Amino acid sequence: DEPGTELAVVSLPSYACQRHTPLLHHNTVLIDALSILAENAELSENEGRGVAFRRAGALLKSLPQEIRRVEQLRGQPCLGDHSLRVIKEVLEDGVCCEVETTKESRQFKAMKALTGIFGVGAKTADRWFREGIHTPSDLQRSGHNLNRAQRAGVQYYDDLNQPVRKAEADAIGLIVEKAVSEVLPGAKITLIGGFRRGKETGHDVDFLITHPEEGREEGLMAKVVSWLEAQGFLLYHKTTRNSYLESKDGPARPPSNMDRFERCFSIFRLSTENERRITQTISAQSTLLHSRTEPSPQTNDQAREESSMLSQCSGSRSWMAVRVDMVVSPYSQFAFALLGWTGSKLFERELRRWAVHERAMTLSSHTLYDSTKRQYLRANSEEEIFALLGLEYIPPCGRNA
Ligand code: GTP
Ligand code: MN
Ligand code: MN
Repeated sequence: DEPGTELAVVSLPSYACQRHTPLLHHNTVLIDALSILAENAELSENEGRGVAFRRAGALLKSLPQEIRRVEQLRGQPCLGDHSLRVIKEVLEDGVCCEVETTKESRQFKAMKALTGIFGVGAKTADRWFREGIHTPSDLQRSGHNLNRAQRAGVQYYDDLNQPVRKAEADAIGLIVEKAVSEVLPGAKITLIGGFRRGKETGHDVDFLITHPEEGREEGLMAKVVSWLEAQGFLLYHKTTRNSYLESKDGPARPPSNMDRFERCFSIFRLSTENERRITQTISAQSTLLHSRTEPSPQTNDQAREESSMLSQCSGSRSWMAVRVDMVVSPYSQFAFALLGWTGSKLFERELRRWAVHERAMTLSSHTLYDSTKRQYLRANSEEEIFALLGLEYIPPCGRNA
């Protein structure tokens, strides 16, 4: 044995929000194995089991060294019998039987392919799988009636299953910034989600929009979307209005974990030419905001036609479809929205679990409610929210649980 491999690792705290979880870690093979089982549980709508595997994986991501023997994990939280069995098998045999069987199973492959279609969740995918539909092509041949989101999902399937790169996220950021400044001067946009945590690729790009004068942000999403649409930037969008003010059950308890901000799920048409130019513009330290070089407007129908033509003669693509999420928050809730939309999903879940179980508080993307004091707690920054929760501040790059 190499020296040092038997050293016990100091036992880590059990909530992911109590520790740093970096993007790059030392136990990739083990984490990949656990992620497959987590994904399979999620696709089978076994949420509890999925979370257990995710927590185990996140614990391994936080460890400062590579694990060589399962004994090194003695005393660590978050590792249930099942996860430990998987870890032991991978360490001893290089692979875990259950993981390999899962990866190769027709059901897992089909469920992954079908839920890879934008607008298709586990329930729908499972129904289709039982009807013998295993791939997007099967689905197209089946003649099923698809909703608008799913039609876009099938149409842009290949593009949307390509990872979005940081440069593309930045290019879209400048477009959204331009849109926002055109329709409401003074409004601010922030890149959130995985890119804020330092990821180099993502499945989409997420933005939070606000205005320093409370109330000015009302109705902003519709205007931003109209502007983007008129410029030919949108291939698909679905805007949901703010339902926060109308709710009767109190702001700290939204139904499930969905929040009630004005938001838009969209698919952008990002011109690759445009991206190159914008990237050059960024590196030249100037801004696109005052330039007069927008791409020529194009209607959705034209874009669609072009898409189907291009899919036949690929290689000469001048644009690509990119998933973009936009959320508008009132300024007074900005810190909560920022914290709630930066992720990761597991980190968010752990924050809420910590709040309830360890502090008798309810955390949402809008507010923090203290059940003991029976009052809402205000915060102007993420740092303040961590402090109110009695947690050490974890910066976005440490939230990759
Ligand atoms: P990639 O996009 O795959 O790179 O990862 P990501 O972490 O950016 O994931 P995603 O875009 O799915 O979500 C970003 C963050 O927004 C996550 O922390 C989610 O928890 C959060 N989020 C997504 N949908 C909702 C929602 O409906 N309500 C709330 N409150 N948060 C959401
Ligand atoms: Mn994202
Ligand atoms: Mn998103």
